[in-house]
Amino acid sequence: MEVVVCKTKEEASAIAAAMITAAVKKNPKLVLGLATGSTPVLMYAEMAKAVKAKKVSYKHVKSWNLDEYVGLAGTHDQSYRYFMNKNLFEKIDIQIKNTHVLNGLAKDPEKECAAYETQIRRAGGIDIQVLGIGSDGHIAFNEPGTSLNSRTSVVYLTPSTIKDNARLFFKGKEDEVPTRALSMGVGTICEARKCILLAFGKGKAEAVKGCVEGPVSQFCTASALQMHNDAWIFCDEAAASKLKLRKYYAWRSATKLGI
Ligand code: PGA
Repeated sequence: MEVVVCKTKEEASAIAAAMITAAVKKNPKLVLGLATGSTPVLMYAEMAKAVKAKKVSYKHVKSWNLDEYVGLAGTHDQSYRYFMNKNLFEKIDIQIKNTHVLNGLAKDPEKECAAYETQIRRAGGIDIQVLGIGSDGHIAFNEPGTSLNSRTSVVYLTPSTIKDNARLFFKGKEDEVPTRALSMGVGTICEARKCILLAFGKGKAEAVKGCVEGPVSQFCTASALQMHNDAWIFCDEAAASKLKLRKYYAWRSATKLGI
């Protein structure tokens, strides 16, 4: 696991975006796993800048998103399909038919999840998976108590996630946040060839500590990344503030990245 500690989230987002841009340049048919939430927005803006500057094209890239709320149509302004269209897909030259987000209105949600796994497998697996982290240590919507081997399935949100998501989205209305979601599993995520997790702000410091220095535990599902061979954690100083070895990680990753 490499922990990149940057002064600001802007700096961290630019470096993470550059990593993705370089990978797409190298393999124009890259398969991306994408995340929603407030955290990746700056990185997506940087990715869009690179497309606008004609440094890279997503024309042949395919994407699969981590999760979607049960009960929300893709046209709902709080759905993750809507979020992705607005924050990334409409700003880059990806073909919308190549973008995949779980259908929150699927009649048979478990069938939808199984089909999603098949699609990813048929595409050859995910090359780079983008991740945020919940303040409770979740990746995608894999809440504490989820098996670290879990596959894409219907999941149940914790009260703390509902609170966090109501604060950032849903205009603060907790009762409007769906209580269930369709989510890639921890096992599914860990099969990606590279993982890039972004974490910003002091509200994420405890979760980042659990992810990087805690035991591998289903209590902090992000800790499963400790078993991954190519996982990168991009933090600002606030999110890294509880890491015992943050100075060492910062030096090591900066040396490896040549920054
Ligand atoms: P956030 O969500 O980026 O809005 O903080 C992250 C997550 O819950 O995974």
